[in-house]
Amino acid sequence: MLRTHTCGELTISDLGKEVTLTGWVQKSRDLGGMTFVDMRDRYGITQLTFNSDDNAALRAQARELGREFVIKVSGKVIERSSKNLKMSTGEIEIKVSSLEVLNAAKLPPFLIEDETDGGEDLRMKYRYLDLRRNPVRNNLVLRHKMAQEVRKYLDGMDFIEVETPVLIKSTPEGARDFVVPSRMNPGEFYALPQSPQTFKQLLMVSGFDRYFQIVKCFRDEDLRADRQPEFTQIDCEMAFIEQEDILNVFEGLIRIMFKNVKDIDLADVPRMTYADAMRLYGSDKPDTRFEMQFVEMNELVKEKGFPVFDNAELVVGIKAKNCAVYTRKQLDELTDFIKRPQIGATGLIYLRHNSDGTLKSSVDKFYNEDELKKWSELYHSEPGDLILVMAGPTEKVRKQLSELRLEMGNRLGLRDKNVFSPLWVLDFPLLEWDEENERYHAMHHPFTSPKPDDIALLDTNPGEVRANAYDMVINGTEIGGGSIRIHDRTLQALMFKHLGFSNEEAQKQFGFLMDAFEYGAPPHGGIAFGFDRLVSIFAGLDSIRDVIAFPKNNSGRDVMIDSPSTISEVQLKELKIKTDL
Ligand code: AMO
Repeated sequence: MLRTHTCGELTISDLGKEVTLTGWVQKSRDLGGMTFVDMRDRYGITQLTFNSDDNAALRAQARELGREFVIKVSGKVIERSSKNLKMSTGEIEIKVSSLEVLNAAKLPPFLIEDETDGGEDLRMKYRYLDLRRNPVRNNLVLRHKMAQEVRKYLDGMDFIEVETPVLIKSTPEGARDFVVPSRMNPGEFYALPQSPQTFKQLLMVSGFDRYFQIVKCFRDEDLRADRQPEFTQIDCEMAFIEQEDILNVFEGLIRIMFKNVKDIDLADVPRMTYADAMRLYGSDKPDTRFEMQFVEMNELVKEKGFPVFDNAELVVGIKAKNCAVYTRKQLDELTDFIKRPQIGATGLIYLRHNSDGTLKSSVDKFYNEDELKKWSELYHSEPGDLILVMAGPTEKVRKQLSELRLEMGNRLGLRDKNVFSPLWVLDFPLLEWDEENERYHAMHHPFTSPKPDDIALLDTNPGEVRANAYDMVINGTEIGGGSIRIHDRTLQALMFKHLGFSNEEAQKQFGFLMDAFEYGAPPHGGIAFGFDRLVSIFAGLDSIRDVIAFPKNNSGRDVMIDSPSTISEVQLKELKIKTDL
């Protein structure tokens, strides 16, 4: 070792020790005949002092140090005259007797401090410098700790970590595949896995019984704050289980992570059906940190001469506590918010339950006081509350009101990052209608089993069939999803038929899996958690980019290594992608 101690280690109890430290120059300052240098490594910062009276040459050498120089110093631990009790090393300093510059450094393009002056683009280009900053490094340390907890828990429960291949064939997870041309098989391509779904099912057929993997997955989809083209899953599968077993085992995993990493004791994770989530929150990933549940009011408001409500499939609203004082301007802001093209609503109706008990709505023309009183009763509103109502086609208006609910949650400070509200959403629909292609898609994936009671509906009312599929949601983010799988060849073939695959297509794409099901496939099921999302929630961050060491930007680019990039003509020719050379 080049050092005897780290920069975060020495305290008042080490006074008098002769030590050698290594690290980077955070900053230095001159005061009279003294130079003070803050030296940093991943463990902390230690102050160095150089005094002209003791050694003028050494101090002159110290004055030459620039930011981020890599240095090695030896000296004695002494007590500081002006202490900084906020730092563990703040009561001591090193009186340096020798200084060696291990490497000089160019002036970094932004400040390497907790609060930096570097913009996002610059920090991404010099990510290796950004990673020297505490907040960014701490996110990766947190990630590491969480990964260890996952391994410890699952290993303790007899799960076996198995690596599955990265060069595979398209998995039908619903996004586009990234593909890799095969030089040895001209004109043919591998696909990078969107998840190890089919492999983990094959491992169950192989008898592995309990599998997990912390694994990179690749999806060529439009990017958002919680989506990266390559991301990490905690991917798990179990055999000889029922849905209840999966929910219990993985609720246990989440609970132990909260306890051991954040010292938070989670209550039992509540469960809600997909149908209820949509009805009460307009979303399959409700943020349950706050109530503000939807109230449907068709029966109360129809046929009173107000065409907007009369013509709507659903009239539904929320109650915002203590918001009756909202001004015209604030209400206009909310209306503008829901009219934005991303949300696309046409209008917002309100009812103020004033503090003096009077009721005042934006549709007084159509609803008299008695009728408004019924609204108030339905919502259990109290003086001071504001009721916000929207109307339209059921699916659309639920989505729009869900956005408004989240916005109100933000405005009212109800979405505290230090509060964690996990939820299981159960009984997802098996199939989802795809307007564009006029056919059904598997909502989760085609290997998900329908609820046995609903199988008969497959022929008559496929959209109504519920699946043995579940998501875990925390604070409005889908952090995991899984299902009980089909393990029977006949049922799997029936599913493919309903998804519009011909026998030949199904055989070509998934023949390997259906063949495997003929050799003794056990009942099985599993789940995969979005590890990046889980870490970002633990860290209280909005973007998963901050918990990934080398992330891509919103255009899917790595601006540090400048990728994707073109490849040489020779490579193109070798891959038979370009043949006219
Ligand atoms: P699913 O597609 O729901 O299920 O993915 C599981 C979890 O992965 C996370 N996730 C993502 N995170 C970051 N960036 C992305 N682009 C991204 N896409 C998904 C989400 C999601 O809940 N094979 C099934 C699991 C199973 O059935 O066992 C699967 O992949 O948090």
